[in-house]
Amino acid sequence: MFAKVKPNTQIIGQNIIYFNRVDSTNSIAFELMKQNMADDGTVIIAEHQGNGRGQGTKQWISDAYENLLFSVILKPVTNTYSDPFIINKAIALALQTSIQEVLPNEKVNIKWPNDILVNKRKICGILVENNYSGQNLNWSIAGIGLNVNQDFEAISSLNASSLKNISGYEFQREVILKNILESIESCYLNVLNSQNDTISQSFNQMLLGFNSNQKFILDQKEVNGEIVGCDRDGRLMIQFEDSKVQSFLHGTIKQIVYE
Ligand code: BTN
Repeated sequence: MFAKVKPNTQIIGQNIIYFNRVDSTNSIAFELMKQNMADDGTVIIAEHQGNGRGQGTKQWISDAYENLLFSVILKPVTNTYSDPFIINKAIALALQTSIQEVLPNEKVNIKWPNDILVNKRKICGILVENNYSGQNLNWSIAGIGLNVNQDFEAISSLNASSLKNISGYEFQREVILKNILESIESCYLNVLNSQNDTISQSFNQMLLGFNSNQKFILDQKEVNGEIVGCDRDGRLMIQFEDSKVQSFLHGTIKQIVYE
């Protein structure tokens, strides 16, 4: 089980709720928010999820006691309506930064829209769920699954990895969690201080394939283009060989990462 983590923060992780087993930490967070029972920055963490949720209809599978599975509740009192993807960008950037600190010699990237890849293998998935009333964001739940000590080498078909697989060392999960929560706080403060352009620029810089030629699958055909950014709605902006820039919603284009 986890030892208690005390991050050096004002908001994120000041309240951490520990569970052994839940269906999904995002679902627990959702229930708490429906009853208005959690403050900004509350973290829900579990050793094991019976129904861990991924992007779309995917599941998030993770062995108990090996990894980090947690959700962060955010209640930003800023109007993010004109920039609805900013929370996703901030969280992805926070994870990229903290994983890069742990693995300083490796290439840690964000694969659009919000996977974290190390040497092109997925090590972390992020699921942000936003709740709006009209144009106001009431709250966001940022669910994070980070592979820490689980061995993914045996299941190479998953293209997944863990901190241990990459470094050869076991990690103390509490130490990693503390660093991540502090990194999320720093990015979240930028959101609260309306530093959206700074966040977006840093997010773009960390995108796998930013400003370089990439292969994609579009309408079942392979196409080449350069990733030039991610817009406010979270669409991937690609410049094609005819110099035209087009933007794509998640699920409408696939970047070819593994060949
Ligand atoms: C993805 O890559 O598809 C997103 C995966 C997000 C998984 C995390 S694990 C903790 C939190 N609770 C969930 O049910 N999902 C997120």
